[in-house]
Amino acid sequence: MIEYENLKKTNKFFLNKFKQEYKKFSSRGQYVLSEKVLNFEKNFSSFLNASFCSGVGNGLDALILSLESLKLPKDSEVIVPANTYYATILAVLRCGLKPVLVEPDYYTCNIDYKEIVKKITKKTRVILVVHLYGKVCEMEPIIEICKEYKLYLVEDCAQAHGAKYRNKFAGTFGDFGCFSFYPTKNLGCLGDGGAVISKKKIDYRSIKMLRNYGSIERYKNEIVGFNSRLDEFQAAFLNIKLKYLNKINAHKRNLASIYNKKLNNRFVKPVTKKDYFDVFYIYNVRSHKRDKLQKFLRERKIITDIHYPLPPYKQNAIKALFENQKFPISDEIHKTTLSLPISYMNTEKEVEKVSDIANKFI
Ligand SMILES: Cc1ncc(COP(=O)(O)O)c(C=O)c1O
Repeated sequence: MIEYENLKKTNKFFLNKFKQEYKKFSSRGQYVLSEKVLNFEKNFSSFLNASFCSGVGNGLDALILSLESLKLPKDSEVIVPANTYYATILAVLRCGLKPVLVEPDYYTCNIDYKEIVKKITKKTRVILVVHLYGKVCEMEPIIEICKEYKLYLVEDCAQAHGAKYRNKFAGTFGDFGCFSFYPTKNLGCLGDGGAVISKKKIDYRSIKMLRNYGSIERYKNEIVGFNSRLDEFQAAFLNIKLKYLNKINAHKRNLASIYNKKLNNRFVKPVTKKDYFDVFYIYNVRSHKRDKLQKFLRERKIITDIHYPLPPYKQNAIKALFENQKFPISDEIHKTTLSLPISYMNTEKEVEKVSDIANKFI
């Protein structure tokens, strides 16, 4: 059986290293916003060459706190890619803002910057890009649009730990870079976790307040906040795993290059270009017979996944908001995409086997 992900196997090496650290951490008796979180914030911001990092409860909260800190009028519009994971749009709605969906590029699956301008209105305040599957969006034209229309730029980096565009890390282009450390992510922890990267000190301060009841000084509440803190246990583990993020990403990039070479061209494969350092949180191929291909592989003991079977604008919870709107490219991606095994625990041999078997699918 070639598994899609097995976190026990993926984390075995890191858990062995964590055992010692865990003993120290648990006997110290400081479990919330203490040394481990502070260390992780320093380590992660220096890894990304970023100014400030605040650990928060999860990726959804990283997005919510970033949008909240902008203090936008309630009917402000936020541009988001139509084919993102549901959480990105949920964050916009949770802040009382209006998500305005933009089609992705057919090949990269990332937001198509040429479509953004068509959706800008007087109420647009933010472009919220998502570096989907571990590939950074085409940032230069997007930054230009933000400057021209005076818009905030927020990056959803939940799938892009260590990904780069022109040598600059995902999360460092915009006003905020929002990360999730959900266990399956390239930098995943042992439960929920997240972080916000901010460019300006004032924004960093406001995220630190928002995550902790609106307070920086104990028992003084300056603004109406949340409880969304990265906990010490997760930070202790992340401090260890972060040291291996380059290795994890190199492994996944190597597996992706094997797929790219071996899989035949009947599949639409991920685009790779010189300016982009992709970290392949997901390796997806596209086929009009996707469901049959998935079944074919499963019958041959190869487990795959779909990111995502149903687009956010068709989810029962929110579909009424997007009635009569059409997203043909996004629909096509959702109908045809299939994610092949590319975990840190998958081997070169497994990926070669998956490619050979997939190539036999007619
Ligand atoms: C693109 C994207 N945004 C946001 C999130 C939310 O992260 P979390 O599950 O940590 O809240 C995810 C999580 O999978 C994601 O993939």
